[in-house]
Amino acid sequence: MKYKASDFTLEEKFQLMTGYAHGMQTNGLQGKLPFLWLSDGPNGLRYLDTSTGVMFTRKSISYPAPVVMANSWSTDVLYKTGVGIADECVENDVAVLLAPGVNIKRTPLCGRNLEYYSEDPYLAGMLAKAFIEGVQSKGVGTSLKHFCCNNREFDRMAQNSEVDERSLREIYLRPFEIALTAKPWTVMCSYNPVNGVYMSENKKYLKGLLREELGFDGLIVSDWGAVHNRVKALKATLDLEMPYNAQSERILSEAYAAGQFTEEELDFCVENVLRLCEKFEEAKPLRKKTLSDEQRLSISKAAALEGIVLLKNEGNVLPIQKNARVVIVGDLAESPVYNGGGSSRVENKHKITPLAECLREALPKAQIDMESGQYFTGAQTRDDAVMFMHTFKKAIEKAEAADMAIVVVGNNNAVEIEATDRYTLRLTPLCEEMIKRISAYNRNTVVVIEAGSAIDMRAWIDGVAGVVFAGFGGEAINDALADILSGKVCPSGKLTETFPLSVEDTPSKTELGNSFTERYAEGIMVGYRWYDSRNLDVLFPFGYGLSYAQFEYSDLRLEKQSETDYLLRYKIKNVSNVDGKEVSQVYVQDVFSMVERPKKELVAFSKDLIRAGEEKEITVQLSADSFAYYSVSFDKWYVENGKFKVFVGASSRDIRLEASLVIQLDEATQQSTR
Ligand code: BGC
Repeated sequence: MKYKASDFTLEEKFQLMTGYAHGMQTNGLQGKLPFLWLSDGPNGLRYLDTSTGVMFTRKSISYPAPVVMANSWSTDVLYKTGVGIADECVENDVAVLLAPGVNIKRTPLCGRNLEYYSEDPYLAGMLAKAFIEGVQSKGVGTSLKHFCCNNREFDRMAQNSEVDERSLREIYLRPFEIALTAKPWTVMCSYNPVNGVYMSENKKYLKGLLREELGFDGLIVSDWGAVHNRVKALKATLDLEMPYNAQSERILSEAYAAGQFTEEELDFCVENVLRLCEKFEEAKPLRKKTLSDEQRLSISKAAALEGIVLLKNEGNVLPIQKNARVVIVGDLAESPVYNGGGSSRVENKHKITPLAECLREALPKAQIDMESGQYFTGAQTRDDAVMFMHTFKKAIEKAEAADMAIVVVGNNNAVEIEATDRYTLRLTPLCEEMIKRISAYNRNTVVVIEAGSAIDMRAWIDGVAGVVFAGFGGEAINDALADILSGKVCPSGKLTETFPLSVEDTPSKTELGNSFTERYAEGIMVGYRWYDSRNLDVLFPFGYGLSYAQFEYSDLRLEKQSETDYLLRYKIKNVSNVDGKEVSQVYVQDVFSMVERPKKELVAFSKDLIRAGEEKEITVQLSADSFAYYSVSFDKWYVENGKFKVFVGASSRDIRLEASLVIQLDEATQQSTR
């Protein structure tokens, strides 16, 4: 090892326990160690430049927000996007990218859902793993965050998340457990306490669980400002307090003199900082800029293309007919909300081409008109909306005369942002009003939504022919949208979170916490597990998304390899005349169990290009993990003998194939049953 704790003085060791001067740097100890620059974030590089004395954000390519990347259900998309972002990190000498975030979307109100992948732990973990592998393949470290149970933004610095052990393991830790297999260089602890103790000083979860049980041997960094007591944090093995805390050195040296921690405890954290420096230096041969901005932009577009979800397509209103007369309504079509607010926000590099221009290029024979107006910006309340109503007139006239209308609406990034939650799942009154009025005059209305999480559409969805969930699609969003709307590319995204009918159907409803504690009373029944267990109708289920192609599923076969290992084979045929990609999903149900289990749990998925008329055989692997639950009595993941059903679906509520199997492990591994 190049650097050893013993080569540093006590003072230097204390200095290494926090950042340096500005917000995003580690302490290089006057050249003894490399300065490591840490930068957000999950959908592009957000480099806070302080070199001129005035802080500004350098421009970089904005990739689709994680909500969109995840809706692609493509580990390939996540990997390639990781490579693209890391390439820009290399160019800017950034050592560690502060991403990905794998917190579970427990409530659709969470202001930060746009930065997270899913309500399902397996899916979130697999996507994060691919992203980490992509970033780190370029010699740039990652920070898997926010560990853990940061599932709301309301009072995120203080509100306690009270979670039972089984839910913690099966739902909230599982994505971390899976993503950790990609060996992220760092893990970021969250602001909130979990079960009464701040995560920054939660010894049981940081030292006991993350390090000793899950085997994480990298650096634990605090979220920015998450440390309340540096000594307790150190004893919990939190290595690096961020951002720079001018009091840190004094606090640590006084506490050390008072015998509150040992040099051995300090050295443990110091070594982790030194190891990070070494990783950075050893990765230098990988740290080569290989992509041009144009190549990065095409990665961004490819991710958006795979992550856009077609939710409604009555009478095949989409794709747009080649010679159609189309009017586009809404100022978001000109200035899209291309990413969310907060630390993930990226200053995009290229000027975004208006949707109308992109569509004219994709459909040269069509007549594409645009009526932007002040439909979105500025109007958040119903009173505001009334003020803007008169500007609808022109748009309505144009819509009435056109073959179809495309209405682009959404939430701005002051609504979907960290440190605050949404108060409603509905769009602003003005957006809803605009949709209703336009669709009243032209039934062939397609609504394009730019948002970071589920939207309650009941007020208007029955009146429109089409709905496209674009999410926050990065700076190539309009190019990508034009390809999807024109049919140049077949939509293939599917939702990685349930869109409930209303917020009232969600387990935590509209409660925004109480500035003190929030008990996760629904336990393991999160997301589709909840709606399934209550037999609740939803607007769009987990895993749902339409295509211009049609797929038929057949021939499910289970090949037993061992008592808990199975190779699954099934066929998917594209019975349409359009090439398309299909996301197929495999769920498992434990038919009888001594503990409560969800009606189904996602255990595998596959995304495959299937050309028109082609039939493909898909294979996926199931293993003990696919059948296990976390037994709090045995303190481990446990597979209970008995019958399991295996479902293959086009969504969680569109099951196409079913089979069953029986697991008979040695009785000695099992609890007694009656
Ligand atoms: C966010 C982190 C982010 C950090 C640094 C915090 O407010 O919660 O996700 O990485 O700031 O910008």
